[in-house]
Amino acid sequence: MGIGFMLNKIDLNNSFNLLRNLLEQKRINQNEAQVLSGLDDFNFQKLFSDFIYERRKINILVCGGAGFIGSNFIHYMLEKYPGYKIVCFDKLTYAGNRNNHLAIEHLPNYHFVQGDITDLPHLQNVISEQQISHIINFAAETHVDRSIHGDSKDFVLTNTLGAQTLLEAVRKQKIEKFIHISTDEVFGDTDFDSKELFSENDLFKPSSPYAAAKAGGDLLCRAYFRTHKTPVIVTHCSNNYGPFQFPEKMIPFFLFKLMKGDKVPVYGDGRNIRDMIHVRDHVRALDLLLHKGKPGEVYNIGSDNERSNMEITRMILKIVGKDESAIKYVTDRPGHDRRYAINSEKIRALGWAPEYTSEHFEKGLRETIEWYLNNRAWVDDLWSRQNEMNGWMDSFAERSAKPLFITDQK
Ligand SMILES: NC(=O)c1ccc[n+]([C@@H]2O[C@H](COP(=O)([O-])OP(=O)(O)OC[C@H]3O[C@@H](n4cnc5c(N)ncnc54)[C@H](O)[C@@H]3O)[C@@H](O)[C@H]2O)c1
Repeated sequence: MGIGFMLNKIDLNNSFNLLRNLLEQKRINQNEAQVLSGLDDFNFQKLFSDFIYERRKINILVCGGAGFIGSNFIHYMLEKYPGYKIVCFDKLTYAGNRNNHLAIEHLPNYHFVQGDITDLPHLQNVISEQQISHIINFAAETHVDRSIHGDSKDFVLTNTLGAQTLLEAVRKQKIEKFIHISTDEVFGDTDFDSKELFSENDLFKPSSPYAAAKAGGDLLCRAYFRTHKTPVIVTHCSNNYGPFQFPEKMIPFFLFKLMKGDKVPVYGDGRNIRDMIHVRDHVRALDLLLHKGKPGEVYNIGSDNERSNMEITRMILKIVGKDESAIKYVTDRPGHDRRYAINSEKIRALGWAPEYTSEHFEKGLRETIEWYLNNRAWVDDLWSRQNEMNGWMDSFAERSAKPLFITDQK
């Protein structure tokens, strides 16, 4: 009796269980299982992903893995999937920090390669030597203020040309999935009192050179999928907070200032709104997309946790036991976006939801601050570089009257 005939006779659940058994016993391969299941690629991956991924060799190249979100991703994946190999590929710019990996660098399935994502031959060698099956790209120049007050050339090189180089590497080698991390900033901003949420297919209206360079990378991903069927997924996430963030960004920057006894520099009236997501929720979403995301698709990732910069500043001051006399108001950042808010229904439909929801934000912020306070060796290593961070703010006019703006979260 043929397997197809048997499957017609039993209900769907039993069919899938039978297919699992047949796969387990190696009596059929994955392609045959998919044909017999009658499922398309996406639903087959979705329903059989645990089975497939448990038994396959997953070697992930994590570009920009020595930065804030990349480090959190690597820690999470090594803990959750001890059978996967993680290769961190990072240029180690000022924002890359090998101290982020001290707790994992002894693991046999963790490797570090110093390299630049605009270097195609190097990428190709690493992909072949390490037998890479998946790539996730966090590598970027990320500080909006630097793209405004400094030369934005490096932003274009890494954020746009770097994305194109990775797409070429994926096209030339056999990579199952490439996840490109973008940002909600490509969509521009909305009015403070608007209720608008950005959706995956909204127009790009970037305000800063940083966001424009990211938008260039995203468009290339969409074009490579359309033209070459490159298996790429693009994500647009909102503002992250959590451990390992380089202290030029608002939360650790303010904390470092307060630890040193300095005032925190606030740009303007602090009304600017960001949807704050805990970095652990972001990496959980990326884990899901790595296994169940559909190539060619774009996913927004947000927490529905809109907070004004002033609200966050007040919460930080409260947690560390300071009052508003610790704020100094400085002139606005040029082109400062007012409000970002995104609709993340699409990824929620795949089964993801933030664990640090809006009502847990204060808890998440408190835990984050405690992490920095409890990891003095990590902080001390960066302590001497504080003066290099956001140096242009010192030349901004200090305002004693009505506040105008606040240092932004990214
Ligand atoms: N931090 C946020 O709130 C946030 C929100 C949404 C999206 N994103 C995106 O997530 C990604 C990671 O952000 P992050 O905050 O972790 O950044 P980060 O600045 O902390 O880390 C960036 C990492 O990329 C590396 N890098 C830079 N140029 C490189 C190059 N040419 N080749 C190889 N490595 C290079 C750096 O050394 C660093 O380790 C970025 O693409 C960013 O646009 C960040």
